[in-house]
Amino acid sequence: MLLENRPSDARRQPGRSTTTRWLCFAALALGAPAEGGEPTPERKVAASEREPTYARDVQPLLQAKCSNCHQRGRVGPFALMTYEQAKKRAFDIASVVDSRTMPPWKADPDFGPRLKHDPSLTRAEIALLHEWAEANAPRGEPASQASPTAAETSDEDDWLLGKPDIVLEMSEEFVVPASGPDIYRCFVLPSNLSRDVYVSAVEFRPGNRRVVHHMMGFIDVRGGARARDAAESGPGYASYSGAGVIIDGELGGYAAGNQVVHLPEGVGRFLPRGSDIVVQIHYHPTGKVERDRSRVGLHLCRKPVRQTIEWANATNDKFRLPPGESNIEVKASWFVPVDVEALGVTPHMHELGRDFRMTAALPGGKVQDLIYIPQWDPSWQSTYYFEERVPLPKGTTVHVVAHYDNSAHARNPHRPPRLVGWGPDASDEMCVGYIGVVKKGQDLTRPGERDDLYQILAEQYMRKLARERSRRR
Ligand code: HEC
Repeated sequence: MLLENRPSDARRQPGRSTTTRWLCFAALALGAPAEGGEPTPERKVAASEREPTYARDVQPLLQAKCSNCHQRGRVGPFALMTYEQAKKRAFDIASVVDSRTMPPWKADPDFGPRLKHDPSLTRAEIALLHEWAEANAPRGEPASQASPTAAETSDEDDWLLGKPDIVLEMSEEFVVPASGPDIYRCFVLPSNLSRDVYVSAVEFRPGNRRVVHHMMGFIDVRGGARARDAAESGPGYASYSGAGVIIDGELGGYAAGNQVVHLPEGVGRFLPRGSDIVVQIHYHPTGKVERDRSRVGLHLCRKPVRQTIEWANATNDKFRLPPGESNIEVKASWFVPVDVEALGVTPHMHELGRDFRMTAALPGGKVQDLIYIPQWDPSWQSTYYFEERVPLPKGTTVHVVAHYDNSAHARNPHRPPRLVGWGPDASDEMCVGYIGVVKKGQDLTRPGERDDLYQILAEQYMRKLARERSRRR
């Protein structure tokens, strides 16, 4: 996502304002009799029942939290589908869950409101995997013959939320070379919509999960992406940060393992008729030539839409990151112009990001924490949805405090490091805290109710631009 994702001076399509519109087991497993002494045979049985086994404890856990990525043809570098596969890596598994590097989830679970679909393991689950490794990975008996073994998910038609109302596909295959740098490419998928619709959920379906690292979707009603596509040879066009053109809204994204979420009931994303869906795909070469033809599934709102979600942002596009410095602070803010409720946030930085924190200073002086990414990883850009809406009254200021490392390090795109500022390319940086909001109390099913949140945000942005311009003069 990018600069162009801000509300901009260009207007949306006409009709916009008039239409209504996610114990430690050790103590237990040892099963030592409390009174001390040798356990009796009965006690041994009881103890081994409590010792974690693959069949009873580990398999269900790996299946729920790991195998969506760790199976053939997915992004995980090896499968974790069978006993043998898991046993071989029992200690690695314990170690990566302990350090919380797996499953990949970058948000600090102790900061801010509860997040939807947090895949993080509980302390008990982590202890269980340790215990299992320490016990030499016992297999155990499957609970019953009938219990299914881990099934590889078939890809063809198992859309996670059921069959979408609209499925859009890349018009041709894109060929990813065996090696070379990562590729960031945008593809234009015409929606061919003859009427305005509200979207409740977007499901991104990589055509080839080996090579697709992430996907993001944007809405374009003015043909900018088509023009870029036409100007470049081959399918699509190159763009590192978002769609690379002025866009008219965003559709969220996919990173391997992400859950697909419906917006809360009564909330929709506006998708105007005639719009193009621009899909940006990050390809990571695999060592073999790969082909991809990805799809996007749109689920339309079934219930009346009362509120539209719009993405506001706290952006700093004026920073300078001096070369050689390893902890540079950059701040951004967004002043909330009208009572809203926040549904989620998308922190965005590039390769030099270190950490990212978003908070809201409420008018009464209270501070509402929103999100903290202690170790920024540009490969895992996610939208984080809150379990519960977060009220942000008019007069709230949303603050971003981010840190950057522009010293010599493996991720730094410049060798040696050099001065870096705002820009769309992998070698540039960004500092944006996107925040998805609905207007408090809005009810578009009420006659005469206006869908004006976009307009309010756009006007706020225009005033900011005008202030900056007059300051420069
Ligand atoms: C969202 C996809 C995803 C999920 C979910 C996931 N992994 Fe991974 N895993 C990866 C990828 C990708 C790698 C390769 C390293 C990397 O890119 O970070 C990896 C690497 C690993 C490694 C090797 C780490 C190393 O440093 O060599 C282990 C062990 C592992 N995963 C275990 C797990 C376990 C256990 C779970 C579940 C608790 C899990 N993973 C869940 C994607 C995933």
